[in-house]
Amino acid sequence: MPSLARLVAFVALLASVSAIVPPGQQGSPNQPIDVSENDAPTTDTDSIVQTAGQVDQKSSPPIDAPPSSDVPPTTVTALDGALTNATVSEVSGSSNTTSTSTRRSVGRLGQRTSGFTKVFDGLPAGKHDASIQGTAYLTYTVVDNSTYNVQACLDWCTQRVDGCVFVNIFYEFNNYLLDFVFSEKSNLKCAAYGDIHNATEKLNFGGQPSYPQVGDAPVPLTYITQSSGYAVNSLVNPSDPDGYDLVFGPTGGANNAPGYMGFAFLDKYDVDACAQLCNGRGVDPVGGGCSYFNIWRAVVNGVPTTYTCSMYYLVADESTAVNYGQGSLVVTLSRGYARKNLVIDGGFEGYTGCSDFCFTASYSNWIGTSLGNLDASVFHFQPYSHFGSGVALFGAAFGDDSLAGTLKPAKPLVTEKGASYVIQAFFISSFSGPSLEAHAKVDVFWNGKRVGGTSGFVGSYTFTQSTVVTGTGSDLLSFVGGAAPAWTFLDDVKVFKV
Ligand SMILES: *[C@@H]1O[C@H](CO)[C@@H](O)[C@H](O)[C@H]1NC(C)=O
Ligand SMILES: *[C@@H]1O[C@H](CO)[C@@H](O)[C@H](O)[C@H]1NC(C)=O
Ligand SMILES: *[C@@H]1O[C@H](CO)[C@@H](O)[C@H](O)[C@H]1NC(C)=O
Ligand SMILES: *[C@@H]1O[C@H](CO)[C@@H](O)[C@H](O)[C@H]1NC(C)=O
Repeated sequence: MPSLARLVAFVALLASVSAIVPPGQQGSPNQPIDVSENDAPTTDTDSIVQTAGQVDQKSSPPIDAPPSSDVPPTTVTALDGALTNATVSEVSGSSNTTSTSTRRSVGRLGQRTSGFTKVFDGLPAGKHDASIQGTAYLTYTVVDNSTYNVQACLDWCTQRVDGCVFVNIFYEFNNYLLDFVFSEKSNLKCAAYGDIHNATEKLNFGGQPSYPQVGDAPVPLTYITQSSGYAVNSLVNPSDPDGYDLVFGPTGGANNAPGYMGFAFLDKYDVDACAQLCNGRGVDPVGGGCSYFNIWRAVVNGVPTTYTCSMYYLVADESTAVNYGQGSLVVTLSRGYARKNLVIDGGFEGYTGCSDFCFTASYSNWIGTSLGNLDASVFHFQPYSHFGSGVALFGAAFGDDSLAGTLKPAKPLVTEKGASYVIQAFFISSFSGPSLEAHAKVDVFWNGKRVGGTSGFVGSYTFTQSTVVTGTGSDLLSFVGGAAPAWTFLDDVKVFKV
């Protein structure tokens, strides 16, 4: 026999159920769904400019490095306003550098085209000169020093150094390693850079000891002569990073856009590195994963200074690329890239059956099927949605059955066979309050196999990511669930390559 307390609770439950106006009748959620794109943070330009004033990523070939070393991986020189020195893999949390090593040729400043132009001459042979102290130093070699061998240096840059767009050629004297240790026996250095520098950046005058100390005799110091610079004739667009599309650029405007997730400085203009940072950026609780990045070069007082990678959870475009610089800092070579979402209309914004409130089982981009009546549906109603006005609902829209519905994209997803993907989405199960939503449940299926989902009361839109799935070339994504009055809303579905 039920206790009085249980009876009272049961009656209260019935009363609360009957008091609920279902979503299909434009009922109000138990608590307001309080999210707006308008609250999204925008680019923190002040922090970027201030950090650009602190970072020093300019260099020359070190006097003790052997010639023809591999170009080291791109490093992060600042992260969200703090100076650092870490590889992109360390920062992005990917222990796997596959994406870096399998790069298609050049994701840097641009690909080489035929031909170089002299940017500046060296001083006459007898005078002390200086080598470039500049950004995006890659590596160096020595070339045969029986003549001032420019061509050998240009050929090496073109044929051997990925991303080389500029070389600085100079003699370095009193370098013991060049004179006696390294097998090449040449002091004509050829330094490769991933950015173009000019004579105002000839700031490394040598002056370092390299020869061993012998008795009390002074150690001769290194010095430099005949330092000239050659740059590629033109820069072309880097290849799009894997899983991204170019949205705009190059322009002289950086994005000042909503959905900002922070920035990193790179030691060279490397769109693949910026993509890797975006992929590994982690999750903003309100906005989800990184979906867009903006890469640009900061030129301060006419000198390349750093390469900014800004990340966003909302996809931006050229309309907000209006930050041209500040003070002595000028924005150059700004490009925006959007992460490819394989789901067409994952935000349900394509359903525009009305201007305010309406819903449907299916429309051109999504198909809802039900065991009962409207157990999976798509709404156009801003108060229910995460971002925008479109949103999907699981559980009978009118509350007239407690059966589950299925929602799937109208067409299979066009994936790459064998590639890895994750499914990201936002769920909320709060419409009818904690006790009635306790049994809420929606599962995510990839080709019929459960790979994620949500269950129980979820009081605010919550980011959810599936396990890693594999593409077959044509894949079926579906969401199954709902048991009114345990309703669940779904919004902003994304399938990203990882
Ligand atoms: C960054 O770290 C690497 C590896 O520890 C080191 O070789 C390099 O000199 C460092 N660079 C700077 C600018 O501190
Ligand atoms: C790195 O990724 C490749 C290809 O995705 C995979 O075969 C390899 O096992 C991964 N290695 C590690 C250490 O995760
Ligand atoms: C060429 O380089 C070697 C090794 O540093 C040096 O001994 C020699 O004097 C250089 N020759 C010329 C012409 O500079
Ligand atoms: C070289 O740098 C200086 C310093 O700002 C600048 O004024 C000049 O225009 C630059 N020259 C070229 C050819 O880019």
